[in-house]
Amino acid sequence: MLGVEAIQTYYGESHILHGVSIRVGEGEAVALLGRNGAGKTTLIRSVAGFTPPREGRVVFGGRPVQAWPAYRIARRGLALVPQGRRIFSPLTVRENLTLGARPGEWTLERVYALFPRLGERALQPGGTLSGGEQQMLAIARALMTNGRMLVLDEPSEGLAPIIVREIGRIVRGLKGGRLSILLVEQNYHLALQVADRVYVMNKGQIVWEGTPAGLEADEDVKRRYLGVA
Ligand SMILES: Nc1ncnc2c1ncn2[C@@H]1O[C@H](COP(=O)(O)OP(=O)(O)OP(=O)(O)O)[C@@H](O)[C@H]1O
Ligand SMILES: [Mg+2]
Repeated sequence: MLGVEAIQTYYGESHILHGVSIRVGEGEAVALLGRNGAGKTTLIRSVAGFTPPREGRVVFGGRPVQAWPAYRIARRGLALVPQGRRIFSPLTVRENLTLGARPGEWTLERVYALFPRLGERALQPGGTLSGGEQQMLAIARALMTNGRMLVLDEPSEGLAPIIVREIGRIVRGLKGGRLSILLVEQNYHLALQVADRVYVMNKGQIVWEGTPAGLEADEDVKRRYLGVA
């Protein structure tokens, strides 16, 4: 579904990504782990068309998209849950959901069934929701675009453990269909619950890739790059 091939990404003169390559298969759930400033969001921005790579290729749904504008990549099926949620605070929950919606299996009824709190608060401004509810809204809004790949950038950030578990349960529930998932996280346990395969990033490079079980067993990688004891 997604192939990132040796990309080099810059912010102005700052060289952030140094030859990063990853793959996400159709229906596969892949986690990307790494500490603050590792380059995770920059990789997502490179894929989504917000900060195009200066070198290398991004192949999405069989097409090279690294020179495409973000709206066109989104329309091709990239459903993004951005870091910090970025919901539209003055708009109602329902307006947030319908603004970028496209026809497909995910409808208002279906997302309200998955997230009952959003149905109860459909006519409330998005900004009045709790942090956890806003994260649910950001996920639901991405689903409503009916894309082929869901990309979540640190959905657990700043949320209580009970809400993080709820998000883990929901993302796991989305697996198994045709939807591909790329989950960016600093929360090691959440990532391992969801992923079929894992990449670890450090200083703008992929430093490890393998299975959740392989990472679990690799004390050295966990300590060096993830700060997990
Ligand atoms: N707009 C920008 N201009 C210049 N440098 C930036 C910009 N955004 C990020 N950076 C730098 O790029 C590097 C990678 O940042 P990035 O946001 O991709 O990290 P991250 O892995 O997503 O971290 P976090 O887990 O904290 O979100 C950092 O050194 C950061 O300071
Ligand atoms: Mg980030």
